[in-house]
Amino acid sequence: PIHSVKLTVNGTETELQIAPWTSLLDALREYMNLTGTKKGCDHGQCGACTVLVNGKRINSCLTLAIMQEDAEITTIEGLASTGGGLHPLQTSFIERDAFQCGYCTPGQICSAVGLMNEGKAKTTADIRELMSGNICRCGAYTNIVDAIEDVMN
Ligand code: FES
Repeated sequence: PIHSVKLTVNGTETELQIAPWTSLLDALREYMNLTGTKKGCDHGQCGACTVLVNGKRINSCLTLAIMQEDAEITTIEGLASTGGGLHPLQTSFIERDAFQCGYCTPGQICSAVGLMNEGKAKTTADIRELMSGNICRCGAYTNIVDAIEDVMN
């Protein structure tokens, strides 16, 4: 069965014809060509698929697209300003060289935006703990934490 689903992503509403079991991750990547959001594990273990739903970070592989019809979804493609200026965290990740292969980076940055929205991280240890859902196989953690700290301070 195919359902009609309206998703608001990066400020634009799009109507999709998808199976009801389609994850938000697959809806973004396969139906909307928003391939900045990455699929790592597809079961909530790696954080590569992190996006923002109403400003809160979630693993898009763990939610169905049909559950997010009334939400404002933001992906890595929507973080830059409409004028094209990068989000401060994007700039900071570049300045701190906070990636190697880059596969986890969109999820890391979306997660870091969510972290800042939560306002709970006060120390370096807090950032490490609260970013622990985002795995980096290259082990760029030190620079990732530095990049986030630069923007928080
Ligand atoms: Fe969603 Fe790994 S792809 S957590």
